[in-house]
Amino acid sequence: MDIVVLVSGRGSNLKAICHAIDAGTCGANIVGVVSDRKKAAALDFVDARGIPSRVVPLRKGDDRDLWNDSLAETVTSLNPNLVVLAGFMRVLGAPLLERFPGRIINVHPALLPAFPGHNGPQDALDGGVRVSGCTVHIVDAGVDTGPIIAQAAVPVLVSDSADSLHARIQVQEHRLLPAVIHQIAIGAITLDPFTVTTPVADPSRSLTVPDA
Ligand code: GAR
Repeated sequence: MDIVVLVSGRGSNLKAICHAIDAGTCGANIVGVVSDRKKAAALDFVDARGIPSRVVPLRKGDDRDLWNDSLAETVTSLNPNLVVLAGFMRVLGAPLLERFPGRIINVHPALLPAFPGHNGPQDALDGGVRVSGCTVHIVDAGVDTGPIIAQAAVPVLVSDSADSLHARIQVQEHRLLPAVIHQIAIGAITLDPFTVTTPVADPSRSLTVPDA
């Protein structure tokens, strides 16, 4: 299964996907990485690994519609079966969503539908919850609102800062995201824009997530 990964920053989830591919636990092939930021640290890793990369920048004052068109063209030109948002901090517009209906997934650092948006870990701390985690879901036009595919939970400690909680959540993201991609690749999870058939919905299947 050919995938394009969209990133904005550090790229630790992208690295986790690459490591799982190398380890033979994620049956995907990364045909390209697209960033909205030229200086995203993830791009250094991508270049070192020889993965094709593209930057579709969105600067203050830029026309958002043009950017959405350009992003859709760029991703489409790489011809993926699945688009993976791994720390991509922009809301997608109609052009990309319409070209890949039900074939765009995102990882988010909270147990959706709680705490969507840019500050999942801090919002969980502010909300006083004792358990948080990460969610992999299908992307729709909302902010972290699409159908949920899989989740992993972590405890929230009294001593946590947003950074320490995020770090604990990321350990789970790095296991869950490659595992979900693999399950989609082998057909154990099927997606469409409105429903997800997961191992949870079908008890005869089990979502296998490798140990950290
Ligand atoms: C990840 O924790 C991801 O869940 C989050 O950004 C981080 C990117 O880390 N995404 C969101 O908050 C989307 N709403 P990474 O660049 O190291 O993979």
